[in-house]
Amino acid sequence: MKARLMNEIIVGRRTLASVLVSAAVALGIVGAGETAFAADAAAASTPAKVALSPETLAKGSELFVKNCIMCHDRGMEHPGTAALTYLYGKDKGALEDRDNLTPDFVRFFVRNGRGLMPAFRTGELNDAELKVLAEYLSASPHPAAPAK
Ligand code: HEC
Repeated sequence: MKARLMNEIIVGRRTLASVLVSAAVALGIVGAGETAFAADAAAASTPAKVALSPETLAKGSELFVKNCIMCHDRGMEHPGTAALTYLYGKDKGALEDRDNLTPDFVRFFVRNGRGLMPAFRTGELNDAELKVLAEYLSASPHPAAPAK
C-alpha cells in the first residue's frame, strides 16, 4: 500500500518533470522561431541607411575580409554567395552587394550559423567586432574592389 503510493508519487513527479521538459523545449523552439522571424522581418523591409565613419567602414571591411570573404566574396565559386544567389537571385548573392541587410539580421546569422555557415563564437569574433561588421554590411552595397 505504502509502496504503491510512493510509486504514484514518483510516477507523478516524472510526469510533471517530463511536462516541464517538453514545455521548455516548446518554449525554446518558439523562442528560436521568433528570433528567426524577427530576422526575416528585419531583412524584408529596406532599412534606412546610416552614414558610417571612415574608421567603421575600414574596420568593418577588414573584419569581413578576415572572417567572411572566403565564402561571401563576389563570384559563384564562393559557397555563401552561391547559396544566396540561388535564394535571392542574380546580383543579390554577395553580401556587399545587398541593400537590405540590418545589423540584427547579420548578428543573428553570425552567432547562429546556418547550413554550411558556421556559428562564430565570441572568442572568434567578439561583440564589439560583430557590431562593426554588422554595421558595415548594413551599409552595403559597397563598391567592388578594383580589379588587380
Ligand atoms: C564556410 C562558409 C561561410 C563563412 C565563413 C561565412 N558564411 Fe555566411 N553564409 C554561408 C552560407 C552557405 C550561407 C547560406 C546559408 C543557407 O541559407 O543555407 C550564408 C548565409 C549568411 C547570411 C544570411 C543572408 C541572407 O540574407 O539569407 C548572412 C547575413 C551571412 N551569411 C553573414 C556572414 C558573415 C558576416 C560572415 C563572417 C563573419 C559569414 N557569413 C561567414 C557561408 C559562410
